[in-house]
Amino acid sequence: MSASKPNQVKLVEVGPRDGLQNEKELVSTEAKIELINRLSETGLTTIEASAFVSPKWVPQMADASEVLAGIKRHEQICYSVLTPNMKGLERAIEAKVTEIAVFGAASESFSQKNINCSIKESLERFTPVIEAAKKAEIRVRGYVSCVLGCPYEGEISPQKVAEVSKELFDMGCCEISLGDTIGVGTPLSTRSMIEAVAKTVPIEHLAGHYHDTYGQALANIYASWDMGISVFDTSVAGLGGCPYAKGASGNVATEDVAYLFKGMQVDTGVDLDKLVDTAWFIAGILGRKPNSKLSRVMEKAD
Ligand code: HMG
Ligand code: MG
Repeated sequence: MSASKPNQVKLVEVGPRDGLQNEKELVSTEAKIELINRLSETGLTTIEASAFVSPKWVPQMADASEVLAGIKRHEQICYSVLTPNMKGLERAIEAKVTEIAVFGAASESFSQKNINCSIKESLERFTPVIEAAKKAEIRVRGYVSCVLGCPYEGEISPQKVAEVSKELFDMGCCEISLGDTIGVGTPLSTRSMIEAVAKTVPIEHLAGHYHDTYGQALANIYASWDMGISVFDTSVAGLGGCPYAKGASGNVATEDVAYLFKGMQVDTGVDLDKLVDTAWFIAGILGRKPNSKLSRVMEKAD
C-alpha cells in the first residue's frame, strides 16, 4: 500500500478518560478539571474528557457531568466523551458535548467483559445512539478494541477488525480508532491490521490507539503514520489501562509522541514544555512519576 505520509497529525488526548479510568483511588473532580484545563492550554485540539458509562462499572468516571460542567471550554477544542448506550448519550447531550464515542471490540470475550454484550448486540445498541447523536449534530467516533490481540482470546484476525470497523463506519462514525488495548502489537502486525482495515474504511478516517505495555507503541505509531494515518490517541504522562483488560498498562504518552513527531518535522501543534508540566501535575496528584521518557528527562515539579 502506498499512501502519503502526513505532514500534520492530530493527537487525541485520552488521559482524563482512558488514563484515569483505571486508577484505583478516586481522583477528585477538582483535579480532573484542573488536568483538562491545563491540557487545554497545550495546543491539543481534542481532549477526551470523561465517560458517561455506568458508575457501577467504572466508579472513577461517575463524576463525568461535574467534570464537563466545571472545565473552562475553549472554542477551538473538541471535548469528547464515551457513551456506551442511550443513557450515556442523554447525559452527554445534557453536558453539551460536541463529540461522543461509541466503543466496540474485535473480540467477543472482551466485548462481554467490557460492555456486557456480544459484538452484534453492541452494534445494535449503538445504532440509535449514533442516529440520535447525528440529529443533535454531535460528531461520533467509533472505537474498536483488541485490534492486535485480546487478553482472553489471544490473536485477533485483521479481517475481524476490518469487519467491525466497516460496520461502525457505515453506521455513521466519522473516525474509527483502532485500539491495541493490551499493547501486544508490533510494527509488522500493525501494518497487516491497517492494510486489512483500510480496504474497508478510507485511511483518512482511521486513528491509531496504542498502549505501550510491551514498549512498542512509538514503533507502531511510526508504522501507522508511514502508511498514511494522521490521528493518534495519546495520554499525558502515559496514564492508562483498561479495567476490563487484564495486563493493559499505560497508553503511549502524549509528550513522547509529540517529541517523535517534532523530530520528524511533522506538525502536532502542541507545546512540549506545557505538556511536560501537565504530566508532572497529574503524576503529582497520583503520587508517582510520569510514565513518559520525555517528562522524566525534562523533570519539572509543579
Ligand atoms: P449493564 O450492567 O449490562 O447495563 O452494563 P444496564 O443497562 O443493566 O445498567 C446497569 C446499571 O447501570 C443500571 O443502574 C443503569 O441505569 C446504569 P441500576 O438500575 O442498576 O441502578 N447505567 C448507566 N448509568 C449511567 N450512565 C450510563 C449507564 N448505562 C447504564 N451510560 C454498560 C452495560 C455498557 C452500561 C456497562 O457495561 C458499562 O458502562 N461499561 C463501560 C465499561 C468501560 O467504561 N470500559 C472502559 C472504556 S473502553 C476502553 O478503555 C478501551 C478503549 O480505550 C480502546 C482501547 O484501549 O482499545 C476505548
Ligand atoms: Mg485505551
